[in-house]
Amino acid sequence: MTDDDGYFGERVAARYDESSGEMFAPAAVDPAVGFLAGLAGDGRALELGIGTGRMALPLAARGVPVHGIDLSRAMVARLRAKPGGGAEDIGVSIGDFATTKADGEFSLAYLVFNTIMNLTTQDAQVDCFRNVAGHLSPGGCFVVEVVVPELRKLPAGQRLVPFRATATHWAFDAYDVATQAMSSNYVKVEDGRGSFRSIPFRYVWPAELDLMARLAGLRLRERWEDWDRSPFTNESGRHVSVWEKPV
Ligand SMILES: C[S@@+](CC[C@H](N)C(=O)[O-])C[C@H]1O[C@@H](n2cnc3c(N)ncnc32)[C@H](O)[C@@H]1O
Repeated sequence: MTDDDGYFGERVAARYDESSGEMFAPAAVDPAVGFLAGLAGDGRALELGIGTGRMALPLAARGVPVHGIDLSRAMVARLRAKPGGGAEDIGVSIGDFATTKADGEFSLAYLVFNTIMNLTTQDAQVDCFRNVAGHLSPGGCFVVEVVVPELRKLPAGQRLVPFRATATHWAFDAYDVATQAMSSNYVKVEDGRGSFRSIPFRYVWPAELDLMARLAGLRLRERWEDWDRSPFTNESGRHVSVWEKPV
């Protein structure tokens, strides 16, 4: 981590949209935005980890007022530079989404693209649910999109799962099953120079998220494999879960 912007500082922010290209394709964005807009109804939406506005901009374009929270000024600067991303269009609070407060009530809060795992302790993840619950109006919903921990890829005695291996680029996840700490690690050779980057995460189980929601006074309303509401099963690699604040 290089500065106050966390792991999404200037260097990452400058390439974020390009390097996450597939996630910006209409096939990835449109079903999510439709899902979120339906839950927001006539209310406001709060995006935790708003980033460069991949979800916030199309959601706001559908008429849903969106407010964001993000640690990274560099990411938010990219949002601000886009049409519809000005401060008069989308409010942003700079800070940690586990604890940062935004003004007013929201019918929807959402945290997509595995970003709950950027909170690297169980306490911080619990705090995040409590923070969200404090922002929701009665009947309001919290949506999380996150992978199911990929421990089935980890044979006994092993901690590392490689996921890229080319002549110049190697990447692997490292797991600590005792603490649920993990990291994604990238080794690159560019112009004859090597570089190494490691990003820490905490993986979290669906049932554990349900308990965090209960601690915050929320209850599970829906769990799907994907934004298209396909069923969540034993084989699902990710989930889109919705908890609601009782009326
Ligand atoms: C993977 S990006 C996702 C951005 C956007 N939601 C999207 O779907 O493209 C994660 C974002 O969350 C922000 N972030 C990570 N941990 C955070 C934290 N604890 N508090 C606030 N923002 C955080 C990062 O700065 C980054 O902008």
